[in-house]
Amino acid sequence: MKYIAIIGFGVVGGGITSIIETNAEKIKKTVGDDVEVKYILDLRDFPDSPYADRVVHDITPILEDKDVELVCETMGGSHPAYEFSVQCMNAGKSVVTSNKEVVANFGDKLLECAAENGVSYLFEASVGGGIPVIRPFTTSLAGEKIVRISGIVNGTTNYILTKMKDEGREFGDVLAEAQQLGFAERDPSADIDGIDAKRKIIILTALASGVLLSDEDVYAETLRNVTPADIAAAEKFGGSLKLIADTIISDDSVKTYVCPMIVPSSCPLSFISDVYNGISVTSAISGDIMYYGRGAGRLPTAGAVTADIVAVLSGAAKAEYVPVFNKVDAGYAKPFDSIKFTYYIRANWGTAQIKEKLENWCDDISVLSSSGATVEIIAGEMTKAELEKALAGVDVESIIRVRT
Ligand code: HSE
Repeated sequence: MKYIAIIGFGVVGGGITSIIETNAEKIKKTVGDDVEVKYILDLRDFPDSPYADRVVHDITPILEDKDVELVCETMGGSHPAYEFSVQCMNAGKSVVTSNKEVVANFGDKLLECAAENGVSYLFEASVGGGIPVIRPFTTSLAGEKIVRISGIVNGTTNYILTKMKDEGREFGDVLAEAQQLGFAERDPSADIDGIDAKRKIIILTALASGVLLSDEDVYAETLRNVTPADIAAAEKFGGSLKLIADTIISDDSVKTYVCPMIVPSSCPLSFISDVYNGISVTSAISGDIMYYGRGAGRLPTAGAVTADIVAVLSGAAKAEYVPVFNKVDAGYAKPFDSIKFTYYIRANWGTAQIKEKLENWCDDISVLSSSGATVEIIAGEMTKAELEKALAGVDVESIIRVRT
């Protein structure tokens, strides 16, 4: 028998017990033994759960039990998830997690701690829910030079944008539904304000470049200001409005950011709907590679954690290349304000006048529509400061970046 513990018995933790039961035979074949959850650490009791007798409220019995080989950290948040993970690894136990916050903030230290203790620290479920997107970086993509990762990595906001567009529903109404479905974070502002997507693009950037960016190095823009008119504008442009997490990697710097963008239909990301995530990885060698699947939800995320459990308990993880994340001095990440973008602009202004203003700052300007007092223009490429100067005095209704 192989014994494991789960710390945090919420949406994902509960999903893990369910998958371990349902797929017990298949897991046994790969691991070579039965897998049993011996402890569940949570602040709450679960009197109606078949696991009620395994619930503990203190980490000590898990740390002291030599039979427990592996701990699933599905509690979320940085603290005490970080401290518990370190304690578990110092006690000789591997840790697998779905917690993107702790990986984005402390991935360098956690991987180092695992190496020092000769155990594994795996985090397949931290990005893309059920999409196997983490492990490929250290296996099938190991010989590639990754130059860009661009994607939709937050299921909740993609669900909201899809329902607003297809069903004409209100932002708050769809958010409540996403929470009920178990997609949203405990504090959904992490989803809506791009913080969750920021953590995920930090992790993907670290896998591709080895550099773990700090939170303050990455710009994230909220989705709160997006209106039904913006969503309609994206359609008029022949694309979709999406919350895009982007990282463009060169030899000595990265441009990494999260913001709502109009994605033209020539890019497959424009077709990613509902809770699905899509992640496009561009290699200098192989070109574009797309990962697609359910990016949030109980079972897809728990399935990815279970894959890590099987990798550790079968011994496969020991044979895998382990990534190393390093923090570097400020300066590696280009300031967001220095990055040039193409913009969709909707303004209540004369078409000829606004074109004339923009012509002083950029070369590519095309008028999408001009009706009554309102003009819609695509213009680029400019930094935010250049755009602000170009549009000084103009009655602007909306500005959205266009993904190029
Ligand atoms: N709240 C996250 C999302 C959960 O919606 O993508 C999965 O990480």
